Amino acid sequence: MPRVLFNTNKKTFAEMTFKLLYLILFLPVLFVFSACDDTVEPGPEPAPRRPQNLAEYRLTTDGLKNYFTDAGYFDVGVAIEPRDLDNPTSVALIRRHFNSITAENAMKWDALQPTEGNFRWTNADRIVNFAVANGMRVRGHTLIWHNQTPAWVFQHNGQTASREVLLQRLRNHVTAVVSRYRGQVYAWDVVNEVIDNGSGFYRGSPWFNILGEDFIFEAFRAARLADPNAKLFYNDYRETDPVKREKIFQLISRLRAEGLIDGMGMQGHWNVDWPSSTHLIDAINRYSSLGLEIHITELDVSIYTSSSAPAQAFTQEVALRQRAAYSRFFGVFRRHRDQITNVTFWGVHDGVSWLNNWPVTGRADHPLLFDRNHNPKEAYFGIINF
Ligand code: GLA
Repeated sequence: MPRVLFNTNKKTFAEMTFKLLYLILFLPVLFVFSACDDTVEPGPEPAPRRPQNLAEYRLTTDGLKNYFTDAGYFDVGVAIEPRDLDNPTSVALIRRHFNSITAENAMKWDALQPTEGNFRWTNADRIVNFAVANGMRVRGHTLIWHNQTPAWVFQHNGQTASREVLLQRLRNHVTAVVSRYRGQVYAWDVVNEVIDNGSGFYRGSPWFNILGEDFIFEAFRAARLADPNAKLFYNDYRETDPVKREKIFQLISRLRAEGLIDGMGMQGHWNVDWPSSTHLIDAINRYSSLGLEIHITELDVSIYTSSSAPAQAFTQEVALRQRAAYSRFFGVFRRHRDQITNVTFWGVHDGVSWLNNWPVTGRADHPLLFDRNHNPKEAYFGIINF
């Protein structure tokens, strides 16, 4: 019995040796042949497998920044309020998806300097500290605007402030704010919305009435001085409209000629039908032809296409229409990734969007990628699956 076993083993050993030799000699030959076969075309890169629905989304921890920034596209940002940082679900969502933060309101003039010389940094500091602690960049918003600027700024001794007084206040404010966040805020919306939507060139405002266009240039100069490393942006809406676009272009050309500006902030307050891809692409190309970076600074896509439209339920049909719009916009962003360096959403989820109260108070809107339960919507799956 042991002998038989021995014999069998011996035979198996010989067979194995032969097979091994065969493999050692023949496989490399096969390999060389297949490697030399240039008639075989390399197939297209398979599209990466990404979540298609909520169940799959829950199985991964990847978020927008992984699909865009890490893949060589742009930073992905979100505008937040201090209250968002009190909500653990919002905090988790912000950390998962975004690598750029904007203060929705906490860095506006009325929040930072409600009365002359009395700066209130608490809320803005909290947002900046959160971003820094989580390795996110901060887009500063906004230094000079016609809204959310306290009345005292334009008055002095019971009268309209003089040119000198207003210029001094402008410089003080811009210098104080930009200096405080020097090295932490990497880009500033220095001036917001000064171009007229109608037939005029500049928007009428106390800034313009007292200082003419000088306030724009002075604001950029003060910001440059306070932090020469910060990227300075002009920011506006209806920025894809060809008529307004050309006015904006004239202004930023002059700022560019003086070396005062680094980027154009296209707000991106759009809706499911607007703007057209052509207008969007033309605007990106026009602004960046000046050598400026493009940031999409306040993206949201309303389900309403007019301010008179009645409140509408967020049906699956509406969700798919919005998905198509978001996918279209992101298709453009991706193709223009050499020009676009940041895309920021204006709010964490639908429940906190300003559009629930504008232009119609109390008309619920659904303009963001995440619903009121912080869950991703059709639009989310649309933009990440490319
Ligand atoms: C403008 C401003 C933003 C914000 C929105 C509405 O776009 O730039 O700061 O106030 O309006 O929320």
